[in-house]
Amino acid sequence: MNAAQETKPDNKGLKKEVSRRRTFAIISHPDAGKTTLTEKFLLYAGAVELAGSVRARASQQHTASDWMTMERQRGISISATALEMEYQGFRINLLDTPGHQDFSEDTYRTLMAADSAVMVLDSAKGIEAQTEKLFRVCRMRGVPILTFINKMDHPGRDPLALLDEIERILGIAAVPMNWPVGEAPSFQGVYDLRGNKMLRFQRTEHNRFRAPVQVSGIDDPALPELLGQAAYDKLVEDASLLSGAVAEFDLVRFLNGTMTPVFFGSALNNFGVEAFLNAVLELAPAPVARETEQGVIDPASDTFRGFVFKLQANIDPRHRDRMAFVRVCSGKFEKDMLVLNPRLKQEIRLSRAFKLFGRERVSVDEAFPGDVIGVVSPGLLSIGDTVTTGKPIDFAKIPVFPPEHFAILVNDDVTRFKQFNKGLEQLEEEGAIQVLNSEDALRREPIVAAVGELQFDVVLSRLEEEYGVKARVQRLGFCGARWIRASDGAIPRMSLSTGMRRCRDKNDGIVVLYNSKWELEYFQKENPGLILSETS
Ligand code: G4P
Repeated sequence: MNAAQETKPDNKGLKKEVSRRRTFAIISHPDAGKTTLTEKFLLYAGAVELAGSVRARASQQHTASDWMTMERQRGISISATALEMEYQGFRINLLDTPGHQDFSEDTYRTLMAADSAVMVLDSAKGIEAQTEKLFRVCRMRGVPILTFINKMDHPGRDPLALLDEIERILGIAAVPMNWPVGEAPSFQGVYDLRGNKMLRFQRTEHNRFRAPVQVSGIDDPALPELLGQAAYDKLVEDASLLSGAVAEFDLVRFLNGTMTPVFFGSALNNFGVEAFLNAVLELAPAPVARETEQGVIDPASDTFRGFVFKLQANIDPRHRDRMAFVRVCSGKFEKDMLVLNPRLKQEIRLSRAFKLFGRERVSVDEAFPGDVIGVVSPGLLSIGDTVTTGKPIDFAKIPVFPPEHFAILVNDDVTRFKQFNKGLEQLEEEGAIQVLNSEDALRREPIVAAVGELQFDVVLSRLEEEYGVKARVQRLGFCGARWIRASDGAIPRMSLSTGMRRCRDKNDGIVVLYNSKWELEYFQKENPGLILSETS
């Protein structure tokens, strides 16, 4: 039976819950304004108290979704947690992603749990070199992307050049939905190209922005009067340039991830944010049917299904347990529900399910497709696992990124050896690092492999905070790893050049580490019977 056929005719309630949900992730380069935009979204959703507390602590740049000391110190968000809010009948689930490309693997996993993404760019910086990889990950995942170009109150780059950059670097069409009028410090606001409204960057006595002025079109005589002749002429010129150079917005292309609608605004000034949030709710898809190896899953089917996209231990120092974050994909979650984990062929009772807000955990009684729940279930859930009340299914596999940085972690305090090992094991399960055991008799220390360099800092910081172990990192010069199999299935015999290192991963897979592309090519030539892969 096709999974879609399971839908009961009387599940209107579930369908309604699905259709009002919007689950999206915000991605941005650090400092582009993700925190500020999130704070404004919270304000619109009426979470004034929370948004206020974010603002009060704004100088330290941490929000309710940041919780690690290191995150606070660096002002970057490392963990992915979900913020929930209600706004105009919608349930918004906002997934936080790390604002640094060193955590792009984590971002990818979070994007698997999101139905769309919001990309925040600083108008003065555009797509910064260090962030390209992060945005490409978003593109790779193929989710619909909405773009917010922030900080329009400050002098920035030419808006057309910014659109061009998005197209060039991400390879997706960028279509402006509104257009800036005037440049900071004479920024006058944005013209809504679809709704023919002028939203002015000008406050009333009560410190509110003026209501948008509705006009009949760009040739409405009210516009030059409102903007002044020079700014109006520039707007007309820009609009005519755009009509020749930019494609029309196409919902289908947006939904398949090949076109992004672009909005200009200023998060800090709460300018253009409401219109942007409304556009997100209008354009971003509700939880959609998901492909699995066993067929397409309708979110409104009565069978509960979800998958684990993230694991994290010790979120709350009072509990010190490990939480698996499950994205609900179909059916309704109910507390104490008995589900199957097909990987272990084992049933699990989901009695300890939580929602997180920062460090606070609140017990969850029910959840719907699009929602994220944190499940405490020691040892029974790993990243990529499916949980279901129905027949076993497999959602799309969560990919592993090839490690590019290698180091030895040195623990100088032998009395904390056990804690050190436990910490490393836990961090490996969370997918933060991989631990490789060297097979070199003279150099036995375990090697830690990471996708991004900053991951080492996270490991050190978490080892110290959560396991009381002060370790240090000794960087190794390897530039890449290859997992090895023999074409005849036997245990591979191989000749290694002196600089290379042979290791075993946690599943006993054989891995070789190399120092240069040339060394890898030579190794391949010398060992023609081996099959090499970039990941396990
Ligand atoms: P992030 O989460 O993406 O890292 O960025 P965040 O929101 O923390 O914003 C980074 C900096 O940019 C903050 O300034 C913030 O106030 C500022 N910012 C955000 N939106 C706008 C905007 O629309 N216009 C202008 N001019 N600035 C904006 P900061 O000096 O680092 O912190 P703070 O002292 O303002 O808190």
